[in-house]
Amino acid sequence: MKIAIASDHGGFDLKDIIVEYLKEKGYEVTDYGISENKRVDYPDYAALVADGISKGKEELGILICGTGLGMSIAANKISGIRAACVSDSFSAKMAREHNNANILCFGGRVVGDEVAKTLVDAFLEAEFAEGRHSTRVDKIMSFEKE
Ligand code: RB5
Repeated sequence: MKIAIASDHGGFDLKDIIVEYLKEKGYEVTDYGISENKRVDYPDYAALVADGISKGKEELGILICGTGLGMSIAANKISGIRAACVSDSFSAKMAREHNNANILCFGGRVVGDEVAKTLVDAFLEAEFAEGRHSTRVDKIMSFEKE
């Protein structure tokens, strides 16, 4: 599975740890930056990952900022994106199973390295449950056409 990832300066250290973790687990990773620790505007990096997912270049994405909030708000403005900001693994799993989320967001100033890895595992190993959840997700996506 191909995973897109990016962070701003609030998630820079954690991003590198997660990139290595994903590679160790055998995922193919597209790292959209940042590549050095400098102050940037998180919407620019949310857009890079969201665009990759939206165009089918990668299947799922991970965005890390200070809280995960700005990244998720920005990514959710891009067509086809369902970004979930979480800090516990149950929510990360449910984001895939019930909401068919395609981007996982979390905060480098909120979760530690090991908790972040549990979020990533829970998200990437879960699958969309479909059925009644498809109807609900379809309703969400219909808002994009209004
Ligand atoms: C950057 O200071 C911070 O605002 C950003 O990383 C993020 O937490 C925004 O939601």
